[in-house]
Amino acid sequence: MLPAFVAETDFPVPPAIRSAIDAALDCGDTGYAWPGSVAPAFAGFTRRRFGWEPDPQTIFEVPDVMAGVAQALQVLTEPGAGVVVNPPVYAPFFETIRTSHRRCVEAPLLRDAAGRWDLDFEKLEEAFTAGARAYLLCSPHNPVGRVWTGEQIERIAQLATRYNVAVIADEIHAPLTMPGIAFTPFLQGGGRARAVSLISASKAWNIAGLKCGVLAASPDIAAAVKARLRSIPTEIEARVGHFGSLATAAAFEHGDAWLDEECAHLRKNALLLESLLREHIPAARFVSPQATYLAWIDCSALGMDEPAKHFLTRGRVALERGNKFGTGGAQHVRLNFGTSSTILREIVARMARAG
Ligand SMILES: Cc1ncc(COP(=O)(O)O)c(C=O)c1O
Repeated sequence: MLPAFVAETDFPVPPAIRSAIDAALDCGDTGYAWPGSVAPAFAGFTRRRFGWEPDPQTIFEVPDVMAGVAQALQVLTEPGAGVVVNPPVYAPFFETIRTSHRRCVEAPLLRDAAGRWDLDFEKLEEAFTAGARAYLLCSPHNPVGRVWTGEQIERIAQLATRYNVAVIADEIHAPLTMPGIAFTPFLQGGGRARAVSLISASKAWNIAGLKCGVLAASPDIAAAVKARLRSIPTEIEARVGHFGSLATAAAFEHGDAWLDEECAHLRKNALLLESLLREHIPAARFVSPQATYLAWIDCSALGMDEPAKHFLTRGRVALERGNKFGTGGAQHVRLNFGTSSTILREIVARMARAG
């Protein structure tokens, strides 16, 4: 079986990350992470990459992005609060909201005739008007691959302010924005309040197993976030992986050139995937993503009961099941093209053979 479902890549980590971990091992530095050690590298990276330089006092390490989302929900909302999501969306959003004892409120994405997905601002405002207290924004969006424009981000911020809705922006895929596309960090605009952003080096530099994400808070809630992350018995900051924090600092400080190469390779792979699908599975619909290595493929015209199951049992290739992503996800699969062009060709060949 060829796995192309989990969101991690086949790329080896860059030398700078390897050296940081080797150096720690060589001197027996295998204890706890040091809170605060990632912030300067993170702020430098976001300044160079996105023109956004957060105050290091508002930046905190968390073990991973979803742990950060769960903590942000605790700080920003009360139990039972409605939290807006835009399905089809990263499946653990639903579970994290549920296990945090909050309620999921759906404002599904819109899809145009060309198969391009977009935010539905009418639905979003409806959800805010109906009393939702927070908005879990996926930006760039997994699985549809959209990078929301600066105007859209500003519009979200204005609506959130008007309805007093807290914004939790999951920006984990931001470093993987494709060449030529501009990513706008949610916290970049002026006067953001009651908002957090979660970014990590885990997707772009393939270090998810090392356990370190970054939570940036708007200045008005930074103290409350800090108190929450350091509270006993949760003490979230102490759960960050030491190698994760070393690797994350190295990636953000020294990983730009490697990341540029990766993004260029991913864009080539996206184009290759487009042409392979056109040639071998022409009824599948795919709009090339603006970020990430995740392809969201509409299989409704292929006449399969459950496309991912079909490709797995008949083609021995594992893709992510579309209906895990909620409303709008049925009859879709998510394919990971963060691999070599050779393996990508094999993935599509197996899908085509599945018939
Ligand atoms: C949008 C999004 N958020 C969060 C995660 C999970 O991140 P972490 O392992 O840091 O919790 C993923 C992983 O694919 C993701 O795509």
